[in-house]
Amino acid sequence: MTTTSSAPGKVYLFGEHAVVYGEPAVPCAIERRATVTVSERDDDHLRVSADALSLDGFTVEYSDGSDQEPDVNVPTPLVEAATGYVDEAVAQARDAADSPHTGFDVEIESEIPLGAGLGSSAAVAVAGIDAATRELGVELDAREVADRAYQVEYEVQDGQASRADTFCSAMGGAVRVEGDDCTTLDAPDLPFVVGYDGTSHDTGELVAGVRSLREEFGFAADTVAAIGDLVREGERALAAGDVETLGRLMDVNHGLLSALGVSARSLETMVWAARESGALGAKLTGAGGGGSVVALDAEDCVETALGLTPDCEESFRAALATEGVRQA
Ligand code: MEV
Repeated sequence: MTTTSSAPGKVYLFGEHAVVYGEPAVPCAIERRATVTVSERDDDHLRVSADALSLDGFTVEYSDGSDQEPDVNVPTPLVEAATGYVDEAVAQARDAADSPHTGFDVEIESEIPLGAGLGSSAAVAVAGIDAATRELGVELDAREVADRAYQVEYEVQDGQASRADTFCSAMGGAVRVEGDDCTTLDAPDLPFVVGYDGTSHDTGELVAGVRSLREEFGFAADTVAAIGDLVREGERALAAGDVETLGRLMDVNHGLLSALGVSARSLETMVWAARESGALGAKLTGAGGGGSVVALDAEDCVETALGLTPDCEESFRAALATEGVRQA
């Protein structure tokens, strides 16, 4: 048998990084999906092939406990990251189906590059768990998939993960996450524009950097708390459909993230290109260090301006994905 599931990527309207310390965050799922196809094998091996996680695809086959180096033409850290999420997703599916030694062929196709701040790892984990459990005859509800996908991120990111990315990808739409409290929100289809600089970054390392800054300096802890206050303001603006205030708060959120050391020259260039071409607001999205910015603009100007920015590899309009994980 073969089973395919897909799950959306996301942008953060507000609150990345601070959410790791119990502050609220509002991520929004976007119509760029990761699709995972699995087939049960008759041995205990895993064979993972991926397309579009980076510029080149790769295929790697291994069995449990193997330390064999994959023979691939993409950077090893990327392959390790991708296979790390798949390994843990398969472990969760085996556990859910009480089938500890099942092997799988796993094929990943992603419209979202890995490590770009657009939630590809969460989408791969969510879609992978959904597909592998269905393949084994078990149907989990979206909240349970989210919960298990969170365990995946927690393992791969060395305990430094919030529930935000995985809950958003599993449920779709706009969501609010504060600690273990995860809810879906009513939201208008916000006019998101994304700019991506073509680079990938390790979320775990970026989260660790903020953690040590926060431990060393009181101002960094205050900055994290200020992001929490900003998110609460942002929730009121979202409920009121006040897109102008949302934009202003996005600008401030970006400044606070810069203060925490997770911006990058390419992100600053893209944020300013978006603002100067008329965005209502612009900020980095996700873990930062490079990767992607998100802006609000109902016209075409920001998408065009980002496309002309040398640091921007790709710009696109991103509609809110109302559907979370689904059978593809
Ligand atoms: C990464 O997409 C978002 C972070 O807040 C980490 C997390 O919430 O797990 C930086």
